[in-house]
Amino acid sequence: MTDETHVLDCPAEGASPDWTIPQDWSHYTPGEHAVWDTLFDRQAKLLPGRASEAYLRGLDVLKLSKPGIPDFEELSERLMGLTGWQVVAVPGLVPDDVLFDHMANRRFVAGNFIRRPDQLDYLQEPDVFHDVFGHVPMLADPVFADYLEAYGRGGQRALELGALKHLARLYWYTVEFGLIAQPEGLRIYGSGIVSSFAESRFALDDPSPNRIAFDLKRVMRTEYRIDDFQQNYFVIQSFDDLLRLTVETDFAPLYAEIMAQPDVPVAEILPGDVVLTHGTQDYARGKAAR
Ligand code: PHE
Ligand code: FE
Repeated sequence: MTDETHVLDCPAEGASPDWTIPQDWSHYTPGEHAVWDTLFDRQAKLLPGRASEAYLRGLDVLKLSKPGIPDFEELSERLMGLTGWQVVAVPGLVPDDVLFDHMANRRFVAGNFIRRPDQLDYLQEPDVFHDVFGHVPMLADPVFADYLEAYGRGGQRALELGALKHLARLYWYTVEFGLIAQPEGLRIYGSGIVSSFAESRFALDDPSPNRIAFDLKRVMRTEYRIDDFQQNYFVIQSFDDLLRLTVETDFAPLYAEIMAQPDVPVAEILPGDVVLTHGTQDYARGKAAR
């Protein structure tokens, strides 16, 4: 969401002023539905025991296992009944203020295109699989649903305060790449992980990345990479904790404090960190050497 290279200056032709477009479900080809099914089956096998309880429950109650790319109208109806969220289609990335307005009003914007069969493992822009399979199940959780709505309002405020860079890191390390400590062990809830075949194993099993207890200020100071596996994951204790902390904290003084401090490079461990796994960073080093 900080990579703005694909953002247009105005809504695409045929789009509304809020940048949404009709999903036009009937335009998907059998080949496109097949890409969804392939991706779905692969993740559905991998995620029990890895994804958080909240995520798996969402996948189930929203009936996302039905074959083919989900119809947003049908999906929104289910979701609306559970938490009051809707899913609306957009052609690609939208400007930050537009995005935050949708979120603050419980509308989740999802790309309506799907990756090509030769792009199953990696894609730069979020497609319907990442957006719907990755994000929407978490929106069926009442607490997480509140968190994302509050984040939308927080985003509008961060824009005014010139602090979006910092708030976006919170999104990155929770909504996209968050881990949660369940009684049985670490679980994934971040959408960028649950929608990735490789990272849903790497994030939990690989000795390379650091896994650090979530700390709000620390997270908002930490850089991230958008083009590879993460070198840090931050672990929350519960969604209730995350919601309470972010909603009850006034971020304005935090932003001021953080802006006066240097950013923390990825993979760096700070003195105050509660480190759950001190990563070897072998994966990142191996890449750099190649
Ligand atoms: N409380 C934050 C603020 O004062 C807003 C926020 C809420 C941000 C929830 C993220 C998540 O700006
Ligand atoms: Fe995403």
